[in-house]
Amino acid sequence: MKTKVTLNEIMRCYAEGRKIVASTAYDYTLTRILDPHVDIILVGDSLGNVIQGQETTLSVTLDDVVYHSRPVVRGAQHALVVADLPFLSYQMGPKEALASSGRVVKEAGVAAVKLEGGRDYADTVRFIVRAGIPVMGHLGLTPQFFHRMGGHRVQGRDAKSAQVIREDAEALQESGAFAIVLEGIPSSLAAEITETLVIPTIGIGAGINCSGQILVSYDLLGLTDFAGRKAPRMVKEFLDGRSIMGEAIAEYANDVRESIFPAEEHSFS
Ligand code: KIV
Repeated sequence: MKTKVTLNEIMRCYAEGRKIVASTAYDYTLTRILDPHVDIILVGDSLGNVIQGQETTLSVTLDDVVYHSRPVVRGAQHALVVADLPFLSYQMGPKEALASSGRVVKEAGVAAVKLEGGRDYADTVRFIVRAGIPVMGHLGLTPQFFHRMGGHRVQGRDAKSAQVIREDAEALQESGAFAIVLEGIPSSLAAEITETLVIPTIGIGAGINCSGQILVSYDLLGLTDFAGRKAPRMVKEFLDGRSIMGEAIAEYANDVRESIFPAEEHSFS
């Protein structure tokens, strides 16, 4: 069995220039499949999209994250488990943020939390880190800012917003974040930030030059239903999961209807 990934191992990986591999999980079964292959498993608030079928992540609650983190922690014998702090579980200030982080650490057993936002959350990050809970930042296309961004849009395309992201990254690093997710920003900006920082960047839709990558597991497995639309540019489907699973389920339904299943070997005498 592979050894457990700790924060030290993530930092060693970064220091040695090895790419950090991350994905998401929300249950035990998928965690068991992902776990040997990735360094970090995020219990993302993307559960609002792929588990709950919501257009945004805004309705995800802290209880949802605790509920989904428990089976992931149980299943992850190797990967470091990080949980998202969902919308309005930390925005009211450092004390609320620490209380929310404490819940996912104490009640679910995750090793770190992730929150969205830049310099406005620097004090919050510092407060959580000071209490002993590692924090991952998240900049660029930050889904919890859906309404302020006017949708899920690539960020940092003009000089002014690129500068905001650069400064936010520095502020998060300075406040003690151990890594920063860079989502939906130009590759050149992500490369520049990665070059400047002394903590790892984890890219999603941010090009090849980040210290690591994260992709939502349902997206990489080709399970996400994009409701007839093409998968976003940042997604690569490594499996046509929907078709393969659909075919298996159709075969099962057929076998039941044709009295092929259950056969003798699935039955008890
Ligand atoms: O919620 C999530 O899955 C995320 C990743 C896409 C970074 O935040």
